[in-house]
Amino acid sequence: MRKINEEICCSKVDVIVNTNYKEFLNSIHGKKAIFYSKSLNIDYRGDLNIPIEDGEKAKDVSNVLDLVKTLYDHDFNRGDYVIAIGGGTVLDLVGFVSSIYMRGLNLINIPTTLLGMVDAAIGGKNGVNFGNAKNILGTFYQPSLIIVDLNFIKTLPEEEVRKGLAEVIKYALVLDKELYDYLAMNDKRVLEKDEDALEEIIYRSIKDKLEVVKEDEKETKGIRVVLNFGHTIGHAIEAGSNFTIPHGYAISVGMVCEAKIAEEMGYSEEGVVEDTLWMLSLYGLPITPEKLPFHYSKDLALASVEKDKKIRGNEILMPFPTRIGNYKVVRVPTETVKGFASQCL
Ligand SMILES: NC(=O)c1ccc[n+]([C@@H]2O[C@H](COP(=O)([O-])OP(=O)(O)OC[C@H]3O[C@@H](n4cnc5c(N)ncnc54)[C@H](O)[C@@H]3O)[C@@H](O)[C@H]2O)c1
Repeated sequence: MRKINEEICCSKVDVIVNTNYKEFLNSIHGKKAIFYSKSLNIDYRGDLNIPIEDGEKAKDVSNVLDLVKTLYDHDFNRGDYVIAIGGGTVLDLVGFVSSIYMRGLNLINIPTTLLGMVDAAIGGKNGVNFGNAKNILGTFYQPSLIIVDLNFIKTLPEEEVRKGLAEVIKYALVLDKELYDYLAMNDKRVLEKDEDALEEIIYRSIKDKLEVVKEDEKETKGIRVVLNFGHTIGHAIEAGSNFTIPHGYAISVGMVCEAKIAEEMGYSEEGVVEDTLWMLSLYGLPITPEKLPFHYSKDLALASVEKDKKIRGNEILMPFPTRIGNYKVVRVPTETVKGFASQCL
């Protein structure tokens, strides 16, 4: 357990979870919430566990007002805490609501998926979907505390582990050659959920992300965009599928496509595309659109490229891998990105 910017006071606290956890209070996750609250000296009410729809549906904008209403009806004020326990979807929704309710409630993130641990819980970004665009409403809002507990991984299906590994591989490809080498040599241990191997990759991923966020918290300096490698195309795939294709799989195909664009535009060394394909395949992640679990509309996907949050004028800020563990941010005309994207989508 590593603590970040701990801040404890408190009056009441409540928990927002996925609907999956029906027997929440009797479950391992519920007990942990009580345990954490007690050890943080927070008065856990326990009578207000708010379930959230499972999966990407959680990030429907309508859930924002529902949650706000619940908090309002229960007299929450700025001294109170909410604990978000769940995957990236719950963390994104609750993070957003916590940031806007009375201009900011105290937030504790307890990620329960690998993706949540290595990415969504860290760095203060949140967001919900609107129209056909991903994370179009969101804020930068840092949690008071993040608790990463590897025990949650025990119940996580293999498929969910793979989705989280897509983000881990992202860090390896653009930021961390040592992580790439570690992943290359420890695939079996990682996929068998060996605790030491998991701790190593989670720790390195969090460290990689925090180093970037420290330099450019609000994504104004052109540094934090590196964390979006694979996400321009990945988000387009998600939008093209009406958000049925999971984020981890979409960005896996997105990273392949963006690495190819980088190579074709002459920004990456020879071999980067092969290394990207090899690593994603090693962890059983999709590398072509045909391998994705659901169909998506190519037209819708291409149209959604124009809603990318990294667009500046007529260009998109694209973080390209130059060689494994390194990157360069390049401004590419939106039409050029769409032209390349139409070849790999
Ligand atoms: N804010 C950020 O910086 C950031 C970064 C990366 C991704 N994201 C967002 O995260 C979302 C994806 O998150 P995700 O992949 O965690 O998906 P998710 O939240 O939908 O969770 C995946 C599934 O795992 C289940 N689950 C969660 N914890 C479990 C556990 N311990 N055991 C068994 N089942 C468990 C959930 O109920 C769900 O069915 C996307 O919306 C993406 O945009 C945000």
